Amino acid sequence: MNPPVKIAVSGAAGQISYSLLFRLVAGDLLGPDQPIVLSLLESPAGMDFLDGVAMELADCASPLLHHYSCHSHPEAAFDQADLVFLIGAQPRTQGMERRDLLEVNAGIFSTQGRALNDAAKRSVKVLVVGNPVNTNALIVRVNAPNLPSENFAAMTRLDHNRAVSLLAARAGCSPGEVKGVIIWGNHSTTQYPDLYHATVAGKPALECIDRDWYEQEFIATVQNRGAEVIRIRGKSSAGSAANAALEHMRDWIHGTPDGSWTSMAVCSDGSYGVEPGLMFSCPVTIQDGRWTLVENLIIDDFSRERMAASEAEILLERDMVRHLLPGF
Ligand code: NAD
Ligand code: LMR
Repeated sequence: MNPPVKIAVSGAAGQISYSLLFRLVAGDLLGPDQPIVLSLLESPAGMDFLDGVAMELADCASPLLHHYSCHSHPEAAFDQADLVFLIGAQPRTQGMERRDLLEVNAGIFSTQGRALNDAAKRSVKVLVVGNPVNTNALIVRVNAPNLPSENFAAMTRLDHNRAVSLLAARAGCSPGEVKGVIIWGNHSTTQYPDLYHATVAGKPALECIDRDWYEQEFIATVQNRGAEVIRIRGKSSAGSAANAALEHMRDWIHGTPDGSWTSMAVCSDGSYGVEPGLMFSCPVTIQDGRWTLVENLIIDDFSRERMAASEAEILLERDMVRHLLPGF
């Protein structure tokens, strides 16, 4: 067997983690031959509950779980971590925008950024799931200046999956036949789900659906899906969020299948006119554990306007947390 891979999960007693952790010990991320060490981080108030979750993990008797540990200090949790899921943060409730969470959640991510900087492996992959993800990921990255910026990503994979699923249902095909969907921008209601480059069973998506539905319904449905889940379920998405986190990390490690891309919010290098340094969702291909932005896609005025609106919102959020962005 290979040496174990250390996976740290923050918010380990929360609802997303309750879906994610059991899939990790089942080998859904790294396969059936790769042992893992789980390093579980909670707030001091969540530690008792975490003990109960840890008991259940032990009760799975998974041959892949080399060992686990529970922590309330990020430095200890992130010590020599290979993979980190930053989930621990307050979720929104009905009527809130994700941005409204900045006040309560942003501070968590500056502390955790510094801890990652000091303690994690230099090759660590850090996925931010706690909302608002783009700005929290910016805070983490800026507070970990000794780690490469490409080691950080914010999750827009759930939006990507929502867009794929919705398009497939409309076109009457399986989600597996949909390729080339893109989520641009912020994980918020300004995100832009772009179908201009998408295909359905090899045909351009916009030839398989009517343009009015795309412009009037599809975009808004994807943008508002998180709020709709909260309205109907009474709590924010958890099973689908855990699934998206797992798929995001799995592709980051194992790569995107030949010629296909996925959506990840990563550090902008100025491509597509997006301000450098912002965490902006865009299409990426992944090989050998490294993502590469898909360049030179044709962007028309309809798309450009929506990408710019989402960038403006990310800039606004950045300005709200300037005090947590030393040197940025
Ligand atoms: P939850 O309230 O069920 O769990 C959050 C957990 O984090 C709690 O157990 C809490 O004690 C813990 N926590 C709080 N502060 C912490 C800290 N400083 N360190 C470690 N742990 C801490 O929430 P949830 O439903 O699991 O959602 C978690 C976050 O993920 C929320 O911000 C939610 O909005 C976000 N989310 C993002 C997406 C996405 O697509 N990016 C999808 C769903 C949810
Ligand atoms: C989602 O998209 O489901 C999450 O970001 C939770 C939320 O607040 O919408």
